Amino acid sequence: MDIVYLNGEYLPLSRARISPLDRGFLFGDGVYEIIGVHRGKLFASREHLLRLQESLKAIKLNIKVSIKQWEDIFIELIKRNKAADQNKYIYLQITRGAETGRSHLFPKGNIKPTVLIMLGDSHLPDYNRLCKGYSAITRTDIRWSYCHIKSISLLANVLASQEAEIHKATETIFIHDGFAIEGSTSNLFIVKNNVLVTPPKSKRLLGGITREIILKLAKQNKIICKARSIAKQELFDADEVWVTSAARDIMPIIKLDNKLINKGKVGSVWQQMQRAYYDYKEQSS
Ligand code: PDD
Repeated sequence: MDIVYLNGEYLPLSRARISPLDRGFLFGDGVYEIIGVHRGKLFASREHLLRLQESLKAIKLNIKVSIKQWEDIFIELIKRNKAADQNKYIYLQITRGAETGRSHLFPKGNIKPTVLIMLGDSHLPDYNRLCKGYSAITRTDIRWSYCHIKSISLLANVLASQEAEIHKATETIFIHDGFAIEGSTSNLFIVKNNVLVTPPKSKRLLGGITREIILKLAKQNKIICKARSIAKQELFDADEVWVTSAARDIMPIIKLDNKLINKGKVGSVWQQMQRAYYDYKEQSS
């Protein structure tokens, strides 16, 4: 039976209950994080929790839990779910809690946020599958202008992910004013003439933890990196296109809107970075 953490209690998922007046349910008023668990150990949890603090600050939700306290809960959850040595992910969601009625305004007085933490099965593909590459599609970015907040209001992302699924693709890359921004659940990289390019951090995209680690490792591996805008056409002209996240690691895209990238083969920079990323994960989890 899956054990989850809900508002200070560890309990079976089947017994976890929240109010229908929870603002997460009524308004999507909350934020979340997804943190990788590699062989039973937390991966880059500190970086994810620092980003959580930024998201909470951005939505003006004050909650006093330290990084160490969050990590202790994650570790306890891994233990209670007997997941030592397993590849999983932590899902952490915090909403502005429940009130007695429905009002757009923040609840008056002391807010009691709803905190849910669950362990999910990692669906990271194995190396042989990754080497075959993946398909993606492009679509207009219909999201709001605060995409740097890891908000649980994900309707546009949900629709975009489903659109990819309908087209037998793994991801939808959002296009805003002719520029490629990020995926519906991932950040975006291209490689052109051995230079690694990713759109710069802004309110249009989520500052991914995986993105940050890749940039650090690429520099260590003497790969030239540029954070600059990527025009849509550059995706099709690129030597390599990747989408990245805690749930995907580095996923090579070899077909975009049914056009082949790099003649349908994964690239050498991806090979190098995928190895570096995996080694880093092994060392730091
Ligand atoms: N999504 N951009 C978007 C829109 C995302 O939803 C995600 C992650 C990322 C990558 O962030 P990170 O490298 O920190 O995982 C970028 C998670 C995995 C999800 O919602 O499933």
